[in-house]
Amino acid sequence: MPDTKFILDSEKCIACGLCVADCFPGYITMGENGPVYPGSCMMCGHCAAVCPVNAITLPELDPETVMDYDEESFKVDPEKLLNSIRHRRSIRNYRSEKVSPEHLSLILEAGRCAPTASNTQKTRFIVVQEGLSEFKELLWSEMPAIIEGMKASDSPAASGLSRFLDHKNSGFRDDLFFNAPAYVLVITDNVWDAGLAASDMEMVAYACGAGMLHSGYLKRVVSSSPKLTGWLGINEGESIACCLLLGYPAVSYPRTAGRKMPKVTMK
Ligand SMILES: Cc1cc2nc3c(=O)[nH]c(=O)nc-3n(C[C@H](O)[C@H](O)[C@H](O)COP(=O)(O)O)c2cc1C
Repeated sequence: MPDTKFILDSEKCIACGLCVADCFPGYITMGENGPVYPGSCMMCGHCAAVCPVNAITLPELDPETVMDYDEESFKVDPEKLLNSIRHRRSIRNYRSEKVSPEHLSLILEAGRCAPTASNTQKTRFIVVQEGLSEFKELLWSEMPAIIEGMKASDSPAASGLSRFLDHKNSGFRDDLFFNAPAYVLVITDNVWDAGLAASDMEMVAYACGAGMLHSGYLKRVVSSSPKLTGWLGINEGESIACCLLLGYPAVSYPRTAGRKMPKVTMK
């Protein structure tokens, strides 16, 4: 039976062995007539990506994510990239306009392309934009009970959240959503996968002129309420790894924010 996970175009294949060398679990071997694929695969796509004659197709992977490299479209100036990383800020003040579908799609694509441990790619993303007012109303109505629950379990978040509730009730500020027009939840039980996806999304948001804010508080609040997770369609057993506010900044930073002295050991 032909293997449908790995299609080799033997007309194109030049048996160079690059796919064998780049298959890090060592699944692909070189046979008499070119590479042989035994069936096991973590679907990392390296074999197809490294092939100089584009002879390999992995039909389970989205073909739109397989793009030919050209320096003009892909190469990034390292100093400029580093400066973008330096200048990115956590945004706590947003303009009211919604995040455009084009920008949203670029940001989510960055999350999808981030590396995942063992290439599971199990991370999923929930974007709340159209339903944000309804969700916020539900969340704030749940807050007194959520805070009581946290106090009962001696959670250190309880005092901060009580202050946030006071701020909200007095009309001073919404410290959970600030005035963001959208927020993104990263759903996975692997916090490293989530952190990497979140970081890449933040940088693409920055490049779009948008900004994000990791909210550990929002994550705690939403995770602790079955009503909120139910509203979001988060299934039993799924974990919220990150919550990020998203929108266009209403604040600009004429300089970067300082950092502490480096802590690096070279041996
Ligand atoms: C995992 C994580 C959780 C965070 N949670 C919150 C939060 O709940 N509320 C908040 O205002 N900022 C939160 N932040 C933002 C940090 O305070 C911020 O990254 C830090 O002050 C540095 O500022 P910068 O991101 O602008 O460089 C969080 C950041 C991270 C990485």
